[in-house]
Amino acid sequence: MKTVADYIRTIPDFPEPGVMFRDITTILQDAEGLHLAVDGLREALRGVDYDLVVGPESRGFIFGVPLAYAEYKPFIPIRKQGKLPAETISETYELEYGHATIEIHKDAIKPGQRVVIVDDLIATGGTTEAMVRLIEKLGGEVVKMLFVIELKGLHGREKLKGYPVFSLVSYEGK
Ligand code: PRP
Ligand code: MG
Repeated sequence: MKTVADYIRTIPDFPEPGVMFRDITTILQDAEGLHLAVDGLREALRGVDYDLVVGPESRGFIFGVPLAYAEYKPFIPIRKQGKLPAETISETYELEYGHATIEIHKDAIKPGQRVVIVDDLIATGGTTEAMVRLIEKLGGEVVKMLFVIELKGLHGREKLKGYPVFSLVSYEGK
């Protein structure tokens, strides 16, 4: 029987030499791959008491929305700067070169709500750490973090100590 890992395509030297790019499009372009990924994330939520699913633009939407739909929970998008139309709060985080700013609608999370974060991949953990800051500023409580892929060599988990991190497929390298 196949697993999600079988549907991930690895492309060496993309986008630059030395990087092994883990491509999720090959999960999505196969109905079984998509089901294995979303159902695997659902499985990790068994017994978890939560109110909302939060995911970041753009690849976080791909897995976050079907998960929230299947679980009958709301989905809250976190977007790159300047995209959300109502009142927002924002957080800036470091990238390998430069920085990025992400935003969430102020009214999207109420104090005390229990939040599950979903993204396609955890690398350095910078994106997730910034999402946690946004969620906690609004009074939300992060109760679980779900990723399809984890790049262990970038030590994202260490940035997120104290939060329950789950990944479906993990790679030792970067
Ligand atoms: C990628 C990936 C994760 C993030 C992980 O998103 O989809 O969201 O990087 O990296 P980190 O753990 O080091 O923060 P990217 O910002 O490339 O944008 P995209 O989802 O819009 O493709
Ligand atoms: Mg992303």
